[in-house]
Amino acid sequence: MRKTVLFLLILFISLPIVKADEGMWIPALLKKYNIEDMQKAGFKLSAEDIYSVNQACLKDAVVGLGREGSPFHHFCTGEIISDKGLMITNHHCGYGAIQAHSSLEHNYLRDGFWAMSMEEELANPGITASFLVRIEDVTEKVEAILRTKLAPKAQKARIKAIMDEAVKGTNLKANIKSFFAGNQYFMSVYKIYKDVRLVGAPPSAIGKFGGDTDNWAWPRHTGDFSMFRIYADSNNEPAAYSKNNQPLKPKKSLTISLKGVKENDFTMVFGYPGTTKEYLTSYAIDQVQNIENPEKIAIRTLKLETIKASMASSELLRIKYSAKAAGVANSWKRWKGEIKGLKRFNTIKLKQDLEAKFQKWAEVTPKRKLNYANILPQMKELYAQKAEYARAYAYAVEAGIRGPEIIGFINSVNSFLKSYNGKDEKKLEAFYGKIDAFFKNFDLNTDRKIFVKLMSHYIKNSSPKFLPEELKKLEGKDIDKISKKLYNKSFYTSKSRLKKIISKQKYKKLYKGKLNLIAQSITNKFRKEIAPEYYKIDSKVNSFQKAWLAGLMEMQKDKKFYPDANSSFRVSYGKIKGYESRDAVTYGHYTTLKGIMEKDRPEIYDYNVPEKLRELYRTKNYGKYTQNGEVPVCFVATNHTTGGNSGSPVLNANGELIGLNFDRAWDGVMSDMYYNPEICRNIALDIRYALFIIDKYAGAKRLIDEMKFAE
Ligand code: ARG
Ligand code: ASP
Repeated sequence: MRKTVLFLLILFISLPIVKADEGMWIPALLKKYNIEDMQKAGFKLSAEDIYSVNQACLKDAVVGLGREGSPFHHFCTGEIISDKGLMITNHHCGYGAIQAHSSLEHNYLRDGFWAMSMEEELANPGITASFLVRIEDVTEKVEAILRTKLAPKAQKARIKAIMDEAVKGTNLKANIKSFFAGNQYFMSVYKIYKDVRLVGAPPSAIGKFGGDTDNWAWPRHTGDFSMFRIYADSNNEPAAYSKNNQPLKPKKSLTISLKGVKENDFTMVFGYPGTTKEYLTSYAIDQVQNIENPEKIAIRTLKLETIKASMASSELLRIKYSAKAAGVANSWKRWKGEIKGLKRFNTIKLKQDLEAKFQKWAEVTPKRKLNYANILPQMKELYAQKAEYARAYAYAVEAGIRGPEIIGFINSVNSFLKSYNGKDEKKLEAFYGKIDAFFKNFDLNTDRKIFVKLMSHYIKNSSPKFLPEELKKLEGKDIDKISKKLYNKSFYTSKSRLKKIISKQKYKKLYKGKLNLIAQSITNKFRKEIAPEYYKIDSKVNSFQKAWLAGLMEMQKDKKFYPDANSSFRVSYGKIKGYESRDAVTYGHYTTLKGIMEKDRPEIYDYNVPEKLRELYRTKNYGKYTQNGEVPVCFVATNHTTGGNSGSPVLNANGELIGLNFDRAWDGVMSDMYYNPEICRNIALDIRYALFIIDKYAGAKRLIDEMKFAE
């Protein structure tokens, strides 16, 4: 008996460790690498049902959400759920749009918004929705270009020519990205729609229930969804907003399942994960854990204190600052979670063990020695050089350029004026529009207080070598008092003063302002002394990173590698599953409306349940949106996801929509650098909660009628 146990134990230990559920896979390669695995785990469809260039498939119902100037950087994902181009994504993804349409008179952030007809749907110029047409491996073509002796600029032009050629004579757009740190290149071809209208959003008390306190946490009760509709021209093709545009007739829309899910059921997520760094060395992890994240957290803590106090003081300030605060708080909290998770699982040590093994392996043959033996020692040296720049970078960017808003604004005004010829009225008009947009959400006193806190921190903690000259002059002075003068006198802090001096073309006078000098001093310190060195080291690191990854893949021949997220389309799959957070603390896999009522605290802004929702609960007016007699709200699963995956469809084994991805659970937030299947969980909104809100809370039955439900 003992012997068999021992035997099994040895067998178990000696099997290659396949980390189930980890990975964000390239849809075009599923057939080659994943489909068997997926089907074994319960998936009932084929690889072509997910991705095909010849037939309509699931990928055709998924969009990457972007912005006009940067359509290939997808800030979120959305999916099509009707044959009239109805699209659903997260509330926090639509937040900027909802915010932009909000005012004291129409407070859609607070009260929600529901278009009761198509005419009422609201345009959002600048937001784009991209459908992936196809993906192509272009590694050989790109590498051939990179091998030439051409200057980087000329190489870039050649790579651009590949993209241009791929979409010549069409209205499609192509984009080449590097995968596996530059060991492979893929080109994605998109059709990008530009008329994306707001259809509906619940009040923040539902869509952002639990606020920043519950953010990155499980158990969760946030109804994180909003709805849009994509419009097209009369040929169903992309067009800028026009009254005459028609609802898009999509190639494919998702079928919704009301059946719900059980623990351990198969599930998958499609979407646009932004950035992960799963193959970092121990030196890099050390820098994130001990320098970058702590410095950035300290700065943002100060900023957040100020913003939150302002927001609590008036409803208007809440409207102005809520979207900004959500953004600042979101990464701030994630950085904290990353530190916690990296430390808890001793990630540095795990990496060091792998590195020791690698080094040994690299010393074995002369060829390996030549290719790989010097990577780690070089990396170590480079990260040692990088440390002081990483710290300086955090100060210049977090406390400076993106600290008080006025600094970034001054930079954008100045850079416009530098390229402006003083004549083109249309251009100026458009820029005035940007100025108006800035001042709509700007509060002088809030920003001034942020300035005081951040500059004091900057001056006190920055190494003298990297402290901007104009800040040196403020050392030991009463910054609060000085800031009042600076802000009250500056041309940049008043819309009318600014427009006046611009229209008179008195740029010299404008630039002489004291606040401008401070902004320039910070910006120049960054641009001239910090960034060049930082990026120089970084580019060396990147070339070793490429070799490191190539070496790892050679050493671990049987391991299936997946590329880091890079804002290209990916598929993750896993199981619906709760988890054990720590000894004796186990979390269930889903939450319900009952839990929302348990959290109801009318005196706390983020936990004040709307009266109508209370009533629906009291009268048990749930319709068909229930599981075991309760309305399900959120669930957790083991799908590997990251920022950008928000809004992604969560599908069951039949490819039917069961939820919307929107977050990750606190214990596993370090998954961008270290994924642990035991503890890393993505959090999804149960689609039935969204439907319940649309139907019973908002009475927007017309939207439910558009959707298609599974038998
Ligand atoms: N943590 C989620 C993601 O990274 C959701 C953030 C939005 N919610 C918030 N309270 N800030 O984007
Ligand atoms: N909340 C993230 C997003 O907005 C998702 C995540 O980081 O897990 O994409």
